Amino acid sequence: MPTLKDTYPLYLNNKAQQPNTDLAVTDKFTGEVAFRTALASPEIIDEAIAGAVRAAEPMAQLASYERQAVLQHCVERFTERFDELAYALCVEAGKPIKDSEGEVTRLIDTFRIAAEESVRMYGEVMPLDISARARGYQSIWKRYPIGPCSFISPFNFPLNLAAHKIAPAIAVGCPFVMKPASKTPLGAIIMGEVLAETDLPEGAFSILPASRDGADLFTVDERLKLLSFTGSPAVGWDLKARCGKKKVVLELGGNAAVVVDHDADLDDALERIIFGAFYQSGQSCIGVQRIIVHEDVYDRFRDMLVAKTKTLVAGDPKDRDTFIGPMISEGEASRLKGWIDEAVAGGATLLTGGGCKGNMLEATLLEGVDKDAKALNEEAFGPLAILQKFADFDEALAEVNRSTFGLQAGIFTRDLFKMFDAWDRLEVGGVVINDVPSYRVDNMPYGGVKDSGLGREGIKFAMEDMTEIRNLVIRRG
Ligand code: SIN
Repeated sequence: MPTLKDTYPLYLNNKAQQPNTDLAVTDKFTGEVAFRTALASPEIIDEAIAGAVRAAEPMAQLASYERQAVLQHCVERFTERFDELAYALCVEAGKPIKDSEGEVTRLIDTFRIAAEESVRMYGEVMPLDISARARGYQSIWKRYPIGPCSFISPFNFPLNLAAHKIAPAIAVGCPFVMKPASKTPLGAIIMGEVLAETDLPEGAFSILPASRDGADLFTVDERLKLLSFTGSPAVGWDLKARCGKKKVVLELGGNAAVVVDHDADLDDALERIIFGAFYQSGQSCIGVQRIIVHEDVYDRFRDMLVAKTKTLVAGDPKDRDTFIGPMISEGEASRLKGWIDEAVAGGATLLTGGGCKGNMLEATLLEGVDKDAKALNEEAFGPLAILQKFADFDEALAEVNRSTFGLQAGIFTRDLFKMFDAWDRLEVGGVVINDVPSYRVDNMPYGGVKDSGLGREGIKFAMEDMTEIRNLVIRRG
């Protein structure tokens, strides 16, 4: 089994530094301190931003093949360090080891996609002679890196959601400062260790664990040209209100729904929905929270779901048989347990689960939940799914849309017309047919509407956000 060090540095202007060991990070299953990392002060963050400003020009001047070589180096090193990365994730996030390995695989994919895209940043030649006054004129536009970027990444995918910011920044040539989640900083620190092996210009990257209080510069500093935040809606919208003239990308939460129509393959839907609702204890923005099932198959499907949910093994995430590990903290588990109890007090039926010990919350299924209950309307971000019944497909779509969120939705149907209807009418960033809303491949456009955020990730789309179009107008003399 890989081992972790006792202490880890922060990365300031490409270099490891250990000004202190102030951040204690726990093993989320045992609750014991697993390692300590340096914590950046506002002065260090300020120095990092100044370094990123100095690096903006040399980063923009890097040739595509040079940026690609850096990303390829990361792919190779992450592949070599696969087991260590998965183990670190399992410890710091409490993510079951199989899910942790899945995330490292996706991390490698994300950097590989970025390496490919880094040499495809194309522009366009446009004839401008659309009227007599523009006769003899044409334009050529290209993409130019936006400059120093500010990244804030979440605890639930400490590697891959940090990668969705870091990799496109390198692909386009933007320097960045990153604040990883304080509960799970190690994934990003190891990425810093690997990036420090490259010859990126000094100041190209800083990876700075920081307390929320001391980290305001990530949001308010005007030298930073883009803020990309993944995390809770309350924090994300507040940052947007305070970040001045910066471009903003927000990947926020959801209470994702899946519709199971009467013609669905129920065995297949069952496997996928169990995964979508309960993988990494439901701590995904696209975890299945609402399961909307056609009345003709409702009873049968409910019984199948309950029976399967009861078989899920809960326990130590380092054990390969574990499917349900801990939630990120006891506070989060008891928050969600409170919502479950409240729903039951309001008339819901507890089909299975509901028990909670420390940060281990059982995989829980409810039905008959009141339309106004928090458990149905807010983001659960834990192992809770709620069954609902529908008679008519339009009614199911309306129920999916009866949410302040709109990230992804899943529809199990074999009807082509219903597929197109769902695609047209659902107010979400992505519709997934015959799978759960939790499905994501790292090159696809990913992001939400309504309270779920602004902008899209998925390397190519993030690269667009991290660049400005610079136009050249040519008059033929
Ligand atoms: C998220 O929680 O927003 C990310 C989900 C994923 O990348 O699979």
